Amino acid sequence: AESVVRRDRFSGGPAREFLSSLSADERIFAADLAVDRAHVVMLAEEEIITAEDAGAILDALVEIERAGHGALPDAEDVHEAIETAVIGRVGPTGGRMHTARSRNDEVAACLRYRLREDVLGAVETVVGARAALLEAAAAHTETVMPGYTHLQPAQPTTVAHWLSSYEEALARDTERLLDAYARLNRSPLGAAAFAGTPFDVDRERTAELLGFNGLVENATDAVSARDFLVETTAAAAGLGTTLSGLAEDGVLFANKGYLTLADEYASTSSIMPQKKNPDTLELVRGRVGDATAGLDGLLTTLKGLPRAYNRDLQRASSHAFEAIDSVTEATEVAVGALTTAEWETDALESAAGGGFSTATGVADLLAQAGVPFRTAHELVAEAAERAEGTPSVETLDTTAESVLDEPLSAVVDVNALERVLDPAGSVASRDSRGGPAPETVGDHLDRAQDTLDNH
Ligand code: ARG
Repeated sequence: AESVVRRDRFSGGPAREFLSSLSADERIFAADLAVDRAHVVMLAEEEIITAEDAGAILDALVEIERAGHGALPDAEDVHEAIETAVIGRVGPTGGRMHTARSRNDEVAACLRYRLREDVLGAVETVVGARAALLEAAAAHTETVMPGYTHLQPAQPTTVAHWLSSYEEALARDTERLLDAYARLNRSPLGAAAFAGTPFDVDRERTAELLGFNGLVENATDAVSARDFLVETTAAAAGLGTTLSGLAEDGVLFANKGYLTLADEYASTSSIMPQKKNPDTLELVRGRVGDATAGLDGLLTTLKGLPRAYNRDLQRASSHAFEAIDSVTEATEVAVGALTTAEWETDALESAAGGGFSTATGVADLLAQAGVPFRTAHELVAEAAERAEGTPSVETLDTTAESVLDEPLSAVVDVNALERVLDPAGSVASRDSRGGPAPETVGDHLDRAQDTLDNH
């Protein structure tokens, strides 16, 4: 009861609301209960508190869990509220729960414990999204489409090649989340305020009970470090960047009539009856902004903080939680929208050859026949200028006469030339590793599926 009185003295007065993180702490309510249990079990095992006291505290924690976060007494944060609730049930002996620890190591343990779950949730969502992309890609290895650089028609590619480009990027985003997880998954518990404790705590034991894979050993580092938030938020923001590109491509393709979103992923207009808008994809771009901003906000909060614990840290964790929530939802929506969309194969096919997108293939064919690539490049550019667009075989032939002093047929097989002037033939010719030729993409998809299965 004594500690309750002391707390009332430091009630915060008019700044109480400002100081309190209790409502935001709902997110770590379950984590705090887990951390309390592990700590109490360890205290009893080490005979720092009696088994009887530990039992009473553990029983109280069960009741507090059942009653839920909403039933907690008003407090500065969830840690204080749960302790007050334990003391309310057990009496002063409940105050033994806080032996050999501080809220500083406690909150750091709670954040890591909870964020682990969120990161794994994000990984699971991204892995599911990758499976959906691979499945959609497998159905479209022959579906030609225009490929762009600088948003100008560049070379024909396929829907499968485009889809799998995002799957591979998401595979690296998955790795980054898992890398963040590896360092997130270490226990700061037992560091106390920042300088250890005279009690003979077993930090390895609480780490083990909470499923952590090792310790943040130095007690000052353990309570000060928030690089686990930085890594997690950075991984989330990176994933978000991938998603925003995917969403932007989707908006563009909807604009061009290359794809039609499923109704459940589209919105209409309150005034224009004909509208079918890609709002979901636009909101993916928008939500990703939250993650990017979260990384910025987090670094701004952490930058320049002295050792050891400072209350600014209370404002740091929400950035990570919001970032991971935003990109997890955005992953589901972006990939959901694009894998349920209908690809308009006719529109894709007729656009695939637009803007003489097969030009590089013609130059490549000439270069394969021994013409220096730069000469071939000039020849094709000259033919395009003469034709004011995609040149016919005849135009290429007359251009070859003037550039090479010999007919085109003396250099290349005309059938092969006709093949690479066709978008599908152009795609089929580019069968280098990682290229868009249907079989090449098929092999890549198989390897990508293996990687996915091995996660
Ligand atoms: N609510 C605080 C936080 O989230 C818990 C730690 C408070 N520690 C302290 N020494 N005031 O950071």
